[in-house]
Amino acid sequence: MGETGISSSTGYCKRLSDQLSHFLLSVLWLFRSSVIRPDTWPAPQWSFRSGAKLITLLALVLIAPVQAQNEPPNKAETSDSDLTMALLMADVLRAARSEIASQQPNINNALVGNKGLSGAVIIERILARLDEAGKPDPKQFSDGSRENNILNSQLAAIEEIIDENQILINKKGIGFKGFVPAVFAQLSNERFSEKMDQIAEIKVTAPIQLVRNRKARPDKWERSIIESKFLAADWSRGELYSELTTDENNNSAFRVMVPEYYGEACLACHGSPSGELDVTGYPKEGGELDDLGGAISVTLYK
Ligand code: HEC
Repeated sequence: MGETGISSSTGYCKRLSDQLSHFLLSVLWLFRSSVIRPDTWPAPQWSFRSGAKLITLLALVLIAPVQAQNEPPNKAETSDSDLTMALLMADVLRAARSEIASQQPNINNALVGNKGLSGAVIIERILARLDEAGKPDPKQFSDGSRENNILNSQLAAIEEIIDENQILINKKGIGFKGFVPAVFAQLSNERFSEKMDQIAEIKVTAPIQLVRNRKARPDKWERSIIESKFLAADWSRGELYSELTTDENNNSAFRVMVPEYYGEACLACHGSPSGELDVTGYPKEGGELDDLGGAISVTLYK
């Protein structure tokens, strides 16, 4: 699985940056006759019209903070540490998938028995990947902290799934074993969510028409974010979405979605011709390079 760049902006930041760009545009608008169009240089004399523009501009500047305060409380209460942790969980998941992807030739080697890929070995390699990518260390949090609890559970879930699949991974005489990154990720995410019931969840979901595993179906909120944000023509590629909201059962939760796009490597299974079976036995979706393939969805219960 390839890595998609995570933009750090949230819906809330986007709105702030919209306000900022609105403000900058207003400044340009005010000075446009002198700055943008050199043919009118020197600047026109101060006039009633530019005075009115200045007053409008001041009003905009004064109104902006009021608008920011009027953000729905769900946005304002969202803490940075929740977002940081959600993104780190997504990073751990991606590093884990990438590690399994890079081990595919080894895992699918029919001639070798013991592959030396214990859960502990894979965890070490995941931590090294995160370190190389300049990501925060998921083990840095103090014992007993929420972060420590959640990230350790995520790593433990991954380690368990690898350990429980040793017989399959080490089976001599079979090449392709179906232990691909997506299957491994689905199993690890389910294990994590069991361990962290009502504390945290991580899931890889997809636009409804692309879903392969029924357990990966987007819930109502995920579906609305995929359809109204990630698939919208004006959504900037890679930008994540976060919101303090509720889950299906009305439990309050901080939720983050990170979009994922098909890279070349994904198309072997998710590309064309649509309907043809891929190596794992699923019909290909007819996806194209850079299409939205899915999203990582993280839920942190409040
Ligand atoms: C070897 C074939 C293969 C490759 C390559 C592959 N996938 Fe998948 N993908 C699968 C399978 C199989 C599943 C279903 C896993 C399961 O059963 O839970 C899946 C599931 C998914 C899902 C979860 C939703 C669902 O449909 O269940 C997403 C999102 C996804 N893949 C995106 C990608 C992206 C993005 C890439 C490239 C980085 C990629 N896949 C590469 C085979 C593949």
